[in-house]
Amino acid sequence: MCGIFGCVLTQGNAAPLIHESLKRLEYRGYDSVGITTLENGVLFTKKDQGKIDDVHRILNLDDMPGSIGIGHTRWATHGAPLKVNAHPHVDCGKTIAVVHNGIIENFSELKQELVNRGHVFASKTDTEVVAHLIEQNLKDSPSTGLAEAVREATKRLDGSYAIAVVSSNEPDKIICARNESPLVLGVGENAIYCASDIPAFLPLTNRAVFIKNGELIVLSRSGYEIRKIHDNSVVTREPEVIEWSPEAAVKQGYPHFMVKEIHEQPGTLRNTLRLQDDYLDLISTFLDRATEVFLVACGTSYHACLAASYMFSKLAYLPTYPVYASEFVEQHGKSVNIDSTILAVSQSGETADTLAAVTASQLRAATILGLTNAIGSTLTRVSRVYIGQQSGPEIGVAATKTFTSQLSVMAQLALRLAKKRGKVSQDEMDFIEEKLSKLPSTVETIINTQESKMKQIAHKYKDAKVFFFLGRGVSTATAYEGRLKLMEIAYVPSIAFPAGESKHGPISLIEAGFPVVFVCPKDGSHRTLIGNIMEMKARGASIISVVEEDDEEIKSLSDDYVCVPCGIPEILSPIPFVVPLQMLAYFMALERGYNPDMPRNLAKSVTVK
Ligand code: AGP
Repeated sequence: MCGIFGCVLTQGNAAPLIHESLKRLEYRGYDSVGITTLENGVLFTKKDQGKIDDVHRILNLDDMPGSIGIGHTRWATHGAPLKVNAHPHVDCGKTIAVVHNGIIENFSELKQELVNRGHVFASKTDTEVVAHLIEQNLKDSPSTGLAEAVREATKRLDGSYAIAVVSSNEPDKIICARNESPLVLGVGENAIYCASDIPAFLPLTNRAVFIKNGELIVLSRSGYEIRKIHDNSVVTREPEVIEWSPEAAVKQGYPHFMVKEIHEQPGTLRNTLRLQDDYLDLISTFLDRATEVFLVACGTSYHACLAASYMFSKLAYLPTYPVYASEFVEQHGKSVNIDSTILAVSQSGETADTLAAVTASQLRAATILGLTNAIGSTLTRVSRVYIGQQSGPEIGVAATKTFTSQLSVMAQLALRLAKKRGKVSQDEMDFIEEKLSKLPSTVETIINTQESKMKQIAHKYKDAKVFFFLGRGVSTATAYEGRLKLMEIAYVPSIAFPAGESKHGPISLIEAGFPVVFVCPKDGSHRTLIGNIMEMKARGASIISVVEEDDEEIKSLSDDYVCVPCGIPEILSPIPFVVPLQMLAYFMALERGYNPDMPRNLAKSVTVK
């Protein structure tokens, strides 16, 4: 999730304005920044790795000529956060510059095709193929012009993109195009802007034109022209007036980053389904060959490891050991060895406890694999192989979208391992893969249909002194995560444990009205879980269940329940089932008057041990 911006001004220099607008998009990515402006048919580019203020201090991003330009602030997905991978990217002739937000899935095939035609690539990014594709189109049909060359290029792209393109050969315009990644125009008095998000130009104009998938736009001093990519037909669309304050705009109208990020999960889950095969294959090969596998992490990431241990065992018959990173050295420091493989999981890639466990393991020659949301983070540098989960920046301290993305990656690894090991039938494989591909829309349905219900439940139990969260099998991890969310942002003392453990002690706490949250997918543990619900109910507990739509039995046993669509394979169930629990915590924090984005005593990345 990067931020792109472009502007065509009737007068004045574009660079200072692009600089300021990228600052307002920096919440979308801060790995590198770059600007290209146009003056007298010449492209001027300044770009480097690092945060905008740091790069500006060295390069002075305001000091560039020209009243037309494009800019980019990056969240690295393909290629490390280095200057060479910073946008804008240019073609061989350095006459075309492109900024891009999204993921081009077929970039390696396109790159190979262009290399075979003599193109020379400078970066490791997926984006650079766009500049060379446009260059090739112009070479193949010089008379068509930039807009047509861009249109033809976008027809070759698979995946998500919002791009802005300038060319020194047509210095009076910017060409933009969109498929899935957000793109919006800002219509000013003496200027026209394109951006990934409204905050970029809101202080300049509140008149916005929303661009739809499959549309290409020509921006010039005479305004904007929208065309359909597939048939080049013209689309007319008037600007809408945006009433948001700049602060609200960064949250896209949501009151808090946490709820915005909960709502972003359909999109981020879609991103996880576009990860590069090579890395998924490589990691699953390392896991397949490993003698022992430790899944090491903290907090929410540890819960992803716990869920993964069920996925790897149930699907691929691979035993793995989820370990709290802060306990790893104490627990396994002496036994970890050259035959050990560590899959370290950290959305920030900077958590000190996780890195300490990695360092201790490295010192004993163990193999380090990484799963992170931060390309370029320490974890990516110390890992033999790592996967970037592509959730985009997560601003809310409470991990939400990064958790479901971690789970999706783990499920894909378990599937590949199962395939390698021939442990599951092709039919079962196809069934799980089909359900995995539908998870983004499944989660969308849950968010759209259950949010108000979770709000009511949070209101009903807002004065509860303590909560239990219970599940069986892989849902134990879901229950742990629900518990952590309620504790960390609503400060409600909460206890989670495998439901089967309740009669070995915790059930003694139960009294009338004691809220117990049950996570109840219709999997192999469903029958036994009903017994656990009965145990709690018999002692007066208030049963709050997350159930499948058609689960009338548990619904009838519950005081309150929310539903998820039916037929989710067991190993995928933590993804949809955790979403209502994220919402419970969010609404409970609001009910208790707390800011869900900035919970007390916590930091987004814990870089101290
Ligand atoms: C989760 O909401 C918390 N922010 C926290 O538990 C977090 O998961 C933990 O600190 C691990 O962070 P990481 O994934 O960046 O390593």
